[in-house]
Amino acid sequence: MISELYDVIHRRRDVRGQFTGAPITAEVLDRVLAAAHAAPSVGMSQPWDFIVVRDWAVREAFHRHVRHEREVFAATLDTEAAERFANIKIDGVLESTLSIVVTYDADRGAPAVLGRHAIAETGLYSVCLAIQNLWLAATAEQLGVGWVSFYREAFLRQLLDIPDGIRPVAWLCVGPVTHLEAVPDLEQHGWRRRRPLHAAVHTDRWGSAQG
Ligand SMILES: Cc1cc2nc3c(=O)[nH]c(=O)nc-3n(C[C@H](O)[C@H](O)[C@H](O)COP(=O)(O)O)c2cc1C
Repeated sequence: MISELYDVIHRRRDVRGQFTGAPITAEVLDRVLAAAHAAPSVGMSQPWDFIVVRDWAVREAFHRHVRHEREVFAATLDTEAAERFANIKIDGVLESTLSIVVTYDADRGAPAVLGRHAIAETGLYSVCLAIQNLWLAATAEQLGVGWVSFYREAFLRQLLDIPDGIRPVAWLCVGPVTHLEAVPDLEQHGWRRRRPLHAAVHTDRWGSAQG
């Protein structure tokens, strides 16, 4: 049903604080990964891989790294922003059931990747579409997803034995949640608000948006 699709799109949230840690069945995890794997990709290169991380020691090591990167970012903020940021939770690495790290292999299908010769980033765009499919499928399955990007790629590559040339694109915390918030966390904390649609839509040329 079309209304169910829109409902999932609008219910989807980035989750940090509402994970319960309850298990995910193998069937549900398969469906969510299959949805990600059904994404469009430039030249049908399917440049993604999914590393399902359950290992507690790995998650703890990643979480320590995230905490450090949080401090690195906090040190760049002015006093007011730093105070606001201090109240914002930026990950659910330890509370979620598992994590899924999504990677990008620029060599897959190369060199003749149809549609990528002029825009190298189309490969990365493809990975992000797989991530969005995963996010929406997880939402439909009543799971929460939280994208964590407070990390250095080199650290994550080493932690997960990711070969050179393959880029980690996202660390996604995944699992059952108590509920999905109606309003994004960053909006609740007064960090940023969603722009009105009319401010983002232009007609014929850049600059005609009414907002
Ligand atoms: C590429 C990307 C990276 C993100 N990294 C983080 C992160 O490190 N920590 C975090 O708390 N949220 C992260 N988010 C979530 C955004 O903050 C969130 O999507 C945004 O505030 C809108 O909220 P919503 O997804 O609930 O609608 C990330 C989102 C994207 C798309």
